[in-house]
Amino acid sequence: MNLLNLDTSELTLHRYPSTNDPNLQAWDAADEYLLSELTAEQLQTAAAQGAILILNDSFGALACGLANYQPISICDSLLSQEATRRNWQTNELENHPLHLQDMLAPLPAAPSLVIIKVPKTLAMLEYQLLRLRDVVTPDTRIIAAGKVKEIHNSTLALFEQILGTTKTSLARKKARLIYTQVEDRPAIVNPYPTIWPLDNTDYQIANHANVFARASLDIGARFLLENLPRQKRGVMVDLGCGNGVLGLMALEYNPEAELLFLDESYMAVASSQLNVEQNRPQDLARCRFQVGHSLNGIDSNSIDVILCNPPFHQLQTITDDIAWQMFRDAKRCLKRGGELWIVGNRHLDYHIKLKRLFGGTECIASNSKFVILRTINR
Ligand SMILES: C[S@@+](CC[C@H](N)C(=O)[O-])C[C@H]1O[C@@H](n2cnc3c(N)ncnc32)[C@H](O)[C@@H]1O
Repeated sequence: MNLLNLDTSELTLHRYPSTNDPNLQAWDAADEYLLSELTAEQLQTAAAQGAILILNDSFGALACGLANYQPISICDSLLSQEATRRNWQTNELENHPLHLQDMLAPLPAAPSLVIIKVPKTLAMLEYQLLRLRDVVTPDTRIIAAGKVKEIHNSTLALFEQILGTTKTSLARKKARLIYTQVEDRPAIVNPYPTIWPLDNTDYQIANHANVFARASLDIGARFLLENLPRQKRGVMVDLGCGNGVLGLMALEYNPEAELLFLDESYMAVASSQLNVEQNRPQDLARCRFQVGHSLNGIDSNSIDVILCNPPFHQLQTITDDIAWQMFRDAKRCLKRGGELWIVGNRHLDYHIKLKRLFGGTECIASNSKFVILRTINR
């Protein structure tokens, strides 16, 4: 289950965070297809000619598989980076340098090979191809891969419009490869971060390409915004901050609180920072922005209020594991009397989980789709 067999070696790969679901692996058929497509000779030549870039490696299967060729693994997820670090160690690859960088950092010039796992959204793919376009050359080999059902005409059209002529392989185990020849294409302006106005305010909300609710306010977040706590003091956390819209309004309603914006996505945290800088620069001094996994690394008994619209995905997988972890961490990190405020779809039954952990929970508001729950750490 955790063993990926390659032509000349095998890798032991685990997801991070780990899961009890035996059907979830740390790699997929697209990873296997990519790794089987590139011969050792091609990889050696590529490594000698320039950087090898890997984009959107979920748990490090590609980076570990190509460890001999010093790839640079680039993604937006701290969890993917952590999975890669752990799998690197598990497979005793420490004698190879591990290069990890986030997608907002500058890309190396003239890479020889770019390997792309097609990301979940077209927006992220568009952003990544536009960034690549600034550094690739006609000699850069570009190979992408994804599940057949995730590769649409619109996916291929982006490769074609931004980088050059694009073809696909036959499907293998429901995965497909995409090959693009870099050519001259008319310039396209990078539209990210995109901006939308927040109703009933003067705020303009900026969103980097991979951010949740990139195109408009999430309806769950809208409901929580209407019911945010006010006049709280101490440390408030916008946990899983996305573009930071909850924390931004919390700054306005809680002038004496400090705000920590926390997310595992680099683009989310960068968007939150941009949104405070541009909409409430007077409050920057009482804000912190941190890329992190749930509340890992945050002191116990140190937080007064946590606001959270919990995630229901990890990468492509629908799961409430991360929400659960956030609730457990909230229990550890809240001071006595500290409050956890959650918005969730009614059918998710968060109140059952919260009751189990905290002993009770209060419904602050509800409508036909959502509930807002407040739980006090006693
Ligand atoms: C439902 S979205 C809410 C975003 C924003 N607060 C809003 O209401 O529009 C959940 C957020 O949790 C973040 N997230 C997912 N897993 C996380 C983790 N392990 N640690 C921290 N944040 C995480 C996602 O990147 C996403 O931004």
